[in-house]
Amino acid sequence: MTFKVSIQHNDINFTTSADDIILDSALESKINLPHGCKNGTCGECKCQLVSGSVTHEEYSSVALSAEELADNKILLCRSVAASDLVLDLPGFVNGFPIKTLPSKIASIEKIGSVAVLKLKLPASQHFDFFAGQYIDIIHGGKNRSYSLANSPSQAGILELHIRYRAGGVFSESVWNEFKVGQILRFKGPLGSFTLKDSAAPMLMVCTGTGFAPIKAILEQMIAHNSKRKVHLIWGNFLPEDFYMTEVLPIWQQQLDLSVTLCSNENTPADFYNGLVTEFVTKSYPDLSQYQVYACGNPGMIENLYNTAANQLKLVKTNFFSDVFTPSV
Ligand code: FES
Repeated sequence: MTFKVSIQHNDINFTTSADDIILDSALESKINLPHGCKNGTCGECKCQLVSGSVTHEEYSSVALSAEELADNKILLCRSVAASDLVLDLPGFVNGFPIKTLPSKIASIEKIGSVAVLKLKLPASQHFDFFAGQYIDIIHGGKNRSYSLANSPSQAGILELHIRYRAGGVFSESVWNEFKVGQILRFKGPLGSFTLKDSAAPMLMVCTGTGFAPIKAILEQMIAHNSKRKVHLIWGNFLPEDFYMTEVLPIWQQQLDLSVTLCSNENTPADFYNGLVTEFVTKSYPDLSQYQVYACGNPGMIENLYNTAANQLKLVKTNFFSDVFTPSV
């Protein structure tokens, strides 16, 4: 008996059977759903069962707790369909295989409180990603997520922007321990914060190192000679928190790009004094024809989404966001 499996928010379907593990059916269909151990131990294949029913084979409670099971979470590597299924895998982008690879630190450049870390991929390995996606750095027994700050057109290099946080294990390592030539392992590509195919004008709104995936997308647009109208609105608490601003006038010669920098204290005359959402609210009373791409902390993203959707006429499906909390 066969069943249809659909991935919510993606145009992805595949067929499985009452005799097959769901993950195996997906992989046979060349759909690389997230997974690791394939034996019910790591939890990498955990996802939300939106509708339908499954039976589970044996697994570790570390991978799937009783609470998660009660909340309709399932392990794709240990479950078998008992009906048609709809699954939700937030952040999953079907397109490029998720790999775990070694990389070599090519450079560490400290600009104020941000380190620009460049990783070089092994020449023998091919790694594809969409501009705007992120990777998990595997270090010290933990995975930490960082957006890729360069576009795929820069072959063989992955650029990460890491804000220094006193006591933050990873940022302390970047500042005080990592050396050029050192090997770092990572997993990716992950996430769905990618440029959507459209001619609509765009607001790209970011705070802090939320600039990283926005930079990647803008570089991708330059590589593709995009004519889309873009307004980059970047906020930091202090003017000295901005970094890499020297690229902005160069991009403005290559794209139809406006730039507004927002800060809260000691604001220079050519900056906006206040929050990014305040600037958007004052400057864009009608966003009905726009797409908004936003990357930053959860409070900013929620505030911007609510304001844009409820006050500024933004079509809700035209809001794309990458929420991050600082890694420790
Ligand atoms: S792949 Fe590890 S628990 Fe499923």
